[in-house]
Amino acid sequence: MSIAEKFVTMEYGPAPEDPKEALSWLDHHGRRFGHFIAGAWHQPVESHYFETTDPSSSEKLADVAQGSAADIDAAVRAAGAALPKWQALTPHGRSRYLYALARTMQKHSRRLAVLETMDNGKPIRESRDIDIPLVIRHFYHHAGWAQLLGQEFPGYIACGVVGQIIPWNFPLLMLAWKIAPALATGNTVVLKPAEFTPLTALAFAEICQEVGLPAGVVNIVTGDGSTGEALVRHPDVAKIAFTGSTEVGRAIRSATATGHKRLSLELGGKSPFIIFEDADLDSAVEGLVDGIWFNQGQVCCAGSRLLMQESIAEPLIAKVRDRMSTLRAGSPLDKSIDIGAIVAGVQLDRIKRLVEQGVAEGATCWQPQIELPSRGFYYPPTLLSNVHPTSIVAQQEIFGPVLATMTFRTPREAVELANNTVYGLAACVWSESINVALHVASQLKAGVVWVNCTNLFDASCEFGGYRESGFGREGGREGLLEYLEPVWFKNAKALPALPPPAGQKLDQESTDGSDSTTPAIDRTVKLYIGGKQARPDSGYSMEVRTANGRLLGEAPLGNRKDIRNAVEAAHKASAWAKSTAHTRAQVLYYLAENLSQRSKEIARRLAAVVGETQAAAEVSLGIERIFSYAAWADKFDGAVHNPPFRNVVLAMNEPLGTVGVICPNDAPLLGFLSLAMPVLAAGNTAVVVPSEAYPLITAELYQVFDTSDLPAGAVNIVTGYTSQLLKVLAEHDDVDAIWCFADEASAAAAKFYSVGNLKQVFTNEGRSIDWFDVKQGEGRWFLQHATQVKNIWVPYGE
Ligand code: NAI
Repeated sequence: MSIAEKFVTMEYGPAPEDPKEALSWLDHHGRRFGHFIAGAWHQPVESHYFETTDPSSSEKLADVAQGSAADIDAAVRAAGAALPKWQALTPHGRSRYLYALARTMQKHSRRLAVLETMDNGKPIRESRDIDIPLVIRHFYHHAGWAQLLGQEFPGYIACGVVGQIIPWNFPLLMLAWKIAPALATGNTVVLKPAEFTPLTALAFAEICQEVGLPAGVVNIVTGDGSTGEALVRHPDVAKIAFTGSTEVGRAIRSATATGHKRLSLELGGKSPFIIFEDADLDSAVEGLVDGIWFNQGQVCCAGSRLLMQESIAEPLIAKVRDRMSTLRAGSPLDKSIDIGAIVAGVQLDRIKRLVEQGVAEGATCWQPQIELPSRGFYYPPTLLSNVHPTSIVAQQEIFGPVLATMTFRTPREAVELANNTVYGLAACVWSESINVALHVASQLKAGVVWVNCTNLFDASCEFGGYRESGFGREGGREGLLEYLEPVWFKNAKALPALPPPAGQKLDQESTDGSDSTTPAIDRTVKLYIGGKQARPDSGYSMEVRTANGRLLGEAPLGNRKDIRNAVEAAHKASAWAKSTAHTRAQVLYYLAENLSQRSKEIARRLAAVVGETQAAAEVSLGIERIFSYAAWADKFDGAVHNPPFRNVVLAMNEPLGTVGVICPNDAPLLGFLSLAMPVLAAGNTAVVVPSEAYPLITAELYQVFDTSDLPAGAVNIVTGYTSQLLKVLAEHDDVDAIWCFADEASAAAAKFYSVGNLKQVFTNEGRSIDWFDVKQGEGRWFLQHATQVKNIWVPYGE
């Protein structure tokens, strides 16, 4: 083609990146890598290796060690040995190391980008301009947090040795998201990279050596899922941070139910990309290219469901098809391609299978006539229309360059469609009306919402999911809290185990609280559901006795059906979340006032179980606690972040939804209030199981709730045996979180049974909490667990 012709066609040729330096780095290591443990390279104990290949050519790049349980054990021991010295360093000392890591990675940035592209198949343009700069930014940002740790997080301490398991779609970026906050907060790390993409993690290990990071602070053990499983199960690991599939996330939730491991999960998504008729369509189409074809769609927050307002569907689809036809697929090392290789053959098969299933279910498949390389794993950009909202391609994460489209008419319909999956990772909203965009953003169940932009990330902004997209955040202040614990909590003693359920009694005769033989006056405590007293479905009750065996009364034995009714009532009261924080504060103050009016009588009854002194303290501190959360209700209100782009990011603290609360035995009234009040203050509704030792407190409380302005159903109380009701609550798919503050077995059960919808779990790990100590019994720690942060990105400028 002549130059003149080229000016007309605007065709351009290949612009290949030179892989020489990356290849010579591989050669320097003899194309064979052991594990990085205690600052040195170690051959795997069982001498097994596996190949890592270039997905654009299937050529072998290197042999990498397959980690066994023995390798994991050696790495965990090295991390444990390094912990005391690493924690004894000053915040400034740790900050210097993080800064050195950032600087050194910057020095090697091109080699890291090339290596990433060779191992993963992503276009070099992306690894060079997005992944690696974000990696470096993450370490710089966290060098800053390390420096400020003591000032910004007084009273907190690192978890200890953390196990981190990462996926293959952003190998070095996921490493940075995991390792930077862990080190900044004083933890030591064992990281397992994904089996498809271990190379940049190994290059990072060498950078740790280069900066002289103390041996054992970072350990990298390569291998497959079984290596990850050994890390998850290791008893000396204090926390697991995982990014990957929801299926494996579930397995890890179950495996960490016993023991006291903290857990954060960043899982899959099926994120909506919503375009309103007043959007700038050309910008929206460019956004969409980034949203779904970035990294071949192998992105957990990919905008894989295009929701278009009906009036613009036709012209929009025409524009999308035009743009798709200009996408260039090719060698990932070519600087002018848009679409690189799919990470592996199995992944390509999975994409094909899901698209076929979608078509079988009625979707129409369109793909542009673009050339794909003849070697390697490639899949063309794909548009699926006529997709039914229940179709597999509208519900399941495809993790490939496949866009499913649907239409809506009104903003309300858009929100309904957008929220109609089990996931809740991210969402995009395109509209020139900021009012509409923010109104919709506030209703989306997603941890990140991009308004008129897409796929923006920054170390200062939290990233993470709602619902089955996982829990915990990476980045920002919340990201650090995932690696920290209150010092007092770490040192708290274990509570005695709850006694086994004592049995049941037919709910025919009630007692007035005395053991006399005179006929009983009917003062039976009832359940409290939807603002009304309710008899238990079972028709059974449990006896409530003092420590020396005196019968105080009977409480209903709630069962599965009662919990179901209570959860339904809690859902009906969801408008509580939308009431203003000021209103919630006023309602709580009123509640305190009403409790105060009945304080003498409540203290008298409570004294029979906990003694006069404690009863008086529980009542007076209980009133104070309600005041505290009334105060907090309109003050725990998020932040505005300033990432290095022209965006403001609104970090909004949102309620979780309906929270199931299991109360402690040691402070029947104060424990109840210390848990129910932060849940309510944050805008959640609650189903509370009061202390098994003194469920009669319910009678006192519902009279207080009835006379306050708390909407019916905002709090529901179901009495009964903790172990039985906890299981039902934790398994319930309409319960969004479980707070369990009983014994160790209950904490484990809460985690284990919550695996179905991966609800958030907050427990005392069976440890004793001094509810009478303000430092332990109230404040931000509880509010953080009562909320989840949503980051809304809003661009500014012309
Ligand atoms: P995966 O969840 O199996 O792998 C992620 C990481 O977990 C890897 O390091 C793997 O070795 C490890 N792992 C696997 N089984 C484990 C276990 N039982 N215990 C501990 N660690 C374990 O994801 P995979 O198989 O690579 O991809 C399958 C699908 O998962 C993808 O098609 C995609 O839909 C989804 N996925 C989602 C990601 C996200 O960022 N949300 C990332 C990767 C995959």
